[in-house]
Amino acid sequence: MSSHDPKFKLVVAFDFGTTYSGYAFSFRDFPLHIKTNCGWSDGADGLVTMKAPTCLLMTPEDEFHSFGYEAENKYSSLAAEDKHRGWLLFRRFKMLLHNTEHLNRKTTVTDINGVSRPAIKIFTMAIRYLKHHFITNVFQQPEIGTFLSERDIKYVLTVPAIWSSNSKHFMREAAVEAGLEDRQLKLCLEPEAASIWCLSITKSIGNVEHFTGVPFMVIDLGGGTADIYVNEKKDDHTFKELYKAGGGPWGGKAVDENFVKWLMGLLGETVMNKFKEEHMCEYFDMLRNFEMAKRSFSADTTGLVSFKLSKILLQLFDENSDSDLRTIISESNLDGFVEFKDDHISVDSSIVATWFLEPISQMIEYVKTILARPDLSKVENILVVGGFSESKFVHDELNEKLKDKTITIPQDPGLAVVRGAVRFGQLPTIVSSRVVKAVPNFKLQ
Ligand SMILES: Nc1ncnc2c1ncn2[C@@H]1O[C@H](COP(=O)(O)OP(=O)(O)OP(=O)(O)O)[C@@H](O)[C@H]1O
Ligand SMILES: [Mg+2]
Repeated sequence: MSSHDPKFKLVVAFDFGTTYSGYAFSFRDFPLHIKTNCGWSDGADGLVTMKAPTCLLMTPEDEFHSFGYEAENKYSSLAAEDKHRGWLLFRRFKMLLHNTEHLNRKTTVTDINGVSRPAIKIFTMAIRYLKHHFITNVFQQPEIGTFLSERDIKYVLTVPAIWSSNSKHFMREAAVEAGLEDRQLKLCLEPEAASIWCLSITKSIGNVEHFTGVPFMVIDLGGGTADIYVNEKKDDHTFKELYKAGGGPWGGKAVDENFVKWLMGLLGETVMNKFKEEHMCEYFDMLRNFEMAKRSFSADTTGLVSFKLSKILLQLFDENSDSDLRTIISESNLDGFVEFKDDHISVDSSIVATWFLEPISQMIEYVKTILARPDLSKVENILVVGGFSESKFVHDELNEKLKDKTITIPQDPGLAVVRGAVRFGQLPTIVSSRVVKAVPNFKLQ
């Protein structure tokens, strides 16, 4: 196997996720020195993540305004002053490519208020933003930009394996429209990027060669879905797919949804719907605060766990409910398990655990069903990647419920796909049998 593709001096990979997106890169001469952007900050609550939320804001003139936390924050501040009319905020729009059978140039995505725009335009803007961020923050630094030209860059874009070829080509077209030259661009399947990364970090999983000819499972626990695959590494460093990608809606987003559902049970559907519809920014703020609390929750957490709600939500409850919070808690047999103080709610850890357990248990059941298949009985190793597997709770649950298997979760599992995609870009022969190639003359209608 050649150790690198000599044509390109720098590989940058973009991982376009349902909930979070980001990039990583490395130089041809230091291929294993893979760097990521140092962290995206929400600018307010102290939340710093290694990828930015997949969220895009457009001005009333239909121009791109911002991406990630900046987009969320700008929309929030506009809404606080009631100046947000006409602005469009698109969140989590990648799901569209999972679900749309007859994707074409006219296919639209809707923003948080139900206003639609052509999907190709939104995807193009998002990819262009990521490329621009990389070029201005990394590439144009004097120590790089002086020595390299943009022609020296190889771009890699990750795509889910389960997408139709139409969806994959849609991404390629969006990327080319965003300014990624077709000849410099490769698409990489997410599970293969994850496999490449896990198998290249010898420290945590022992000898790489050990995996040749041995089937292993990859679980990508992302935001929207848990995607499960079984692969085998062949002698020529390509991967053979033994079990076609499957999975379900068991990503980290399910925990947020369970929290909201539970809160709805307590405060009432009318109040929660009003809150979401009439105070959307406050609603997103509440979810961002939940995100921070969620990240520090583990099986060792005991007692009450505190989450910041919103004063507006509690006001809405007062205005729309005949009862008060204390009575509601008592009638729901939650005395001692739930407390309200100012704009915070404290919930017993046993309740919080159920929000995590619901998706995790379903995912584990699914994994067990796959592993029970006679043709997959030899699978001993399970590699787990994706942001949701950063959760200590998830980590412990997997180790406990699948203890007869060897579970490997690399460091920073949320970055495994994007780092593996950089390796994929450097090593042209890897996964050569399954590379998503450009189809000559393919054009979306
Ligand atoms: N430390 C943590 N604890 C709990 N959940 C976490 C942690 N870090 C990230 N997450 C969750 O992981 C999810 C994001 O994971 P990831 O970035 O892999 O998803 P994605 O790539 O956007 O989604 P997909 O791969 O489904 O398109 C979010 O739901 C986030 O809340
Ligand atoms: Mg992902």
